[in-house]
Amino acid sequence: MIILVGSEKGGVGKSTLSTNFAVLLASLKKDVVIVDTDRQSTSANWAQYREETEQPRIDCIRQYGNLTKTLESLNTRYNIVIVDCQGSISKELQTGLLAADIVIMPFRPSQWDLDTLPSMLEVIETAKNFNSKLNACAVMTMCPTNSRIGELEEAREFFAAYPEVTLLKNVFFDRKVYRDAASSGLGAIELNNDKATAEVHDVCKEIISIYLSKIEGNHGE
Ligand SMILES: Nc1ncnc2c1ncn2[C@@H]1O[C@H](COP(=O)(O)OP(=O)(O)OP(=O)(O)O)[C@@H](O)[C@H]1O
Ligand SMILES: [Mg+2]
Repeated sequence: MIILVGSEKGGVGKSTLSTNFAVLLASLKKDVVIVDTDRQSTSANWAQYREETEQPRIDCIRQYGNLTKTLESLNTRYNIVIVDCQGSISKELQTGLLAADIVIMPFRPSQWDLDTLPSMLEVIETAKNFNSKLNACAVMTMCPTNSRIGELEEAREFFAAYPEVTLLKNVFFDRKVYRDAASSGLGAIELNNDKATAEVHDVCKEIISIYLSKIEGNHGE
């Protein structure tokens, strides 16, 4: 199964989602590879830092340009291929969507982030002409932990107008532990932070439960 993490906007949490999802999937004994398609090399650097920890290594390859064939090939060797894209409508995003099973779009609960959804949906719609299995999914990230701030509810209302996107019920809150994990090559679930561990499990298990049959059916095809 190929999961592409993409957005038109930078800094929304794509690499954080990619690395934390990879750690959780590896802990569930899935063979997982991250494909870092962003020349910033955030995920690739993270995987490098991870080599210096006691944690099991996670494969990460850098790949730029046309991704379609590379992803299809990796998909025969791994249970899950996670593609971490740069924050723009790049060639990597467009060609990756031709092979992906799911595109996950992280959004902070901010109107400027949400305003990028229609142009992402246009790119996804075009890809679907060639790749009808593609599913579009969105997750809210860096949400304020203060429940009195209504931004999350406003974002949910915004998504209600786009039924072609599955907005996950579970969200990532804004927690320092994600930045700590990022800089040490770890996933938040490896840092003994109960709240972050619970939410990473909740988000990732929600993704798995929606798309599980495909994940199980895909390895080695
Ligand atoms: N849930 C969170 N809580 C706190 N900080 C977060 C969270 N998610 C991401 N961050 C931090 O926000 C910054 C941007 O996140 P990240 O690098 O994952 O975004 P990105 O979409 O991959 O960015 P880019 O478009 O530049 O590749 C990083 O410093 C990251 O550690
Ligand atoms: Mg990134």
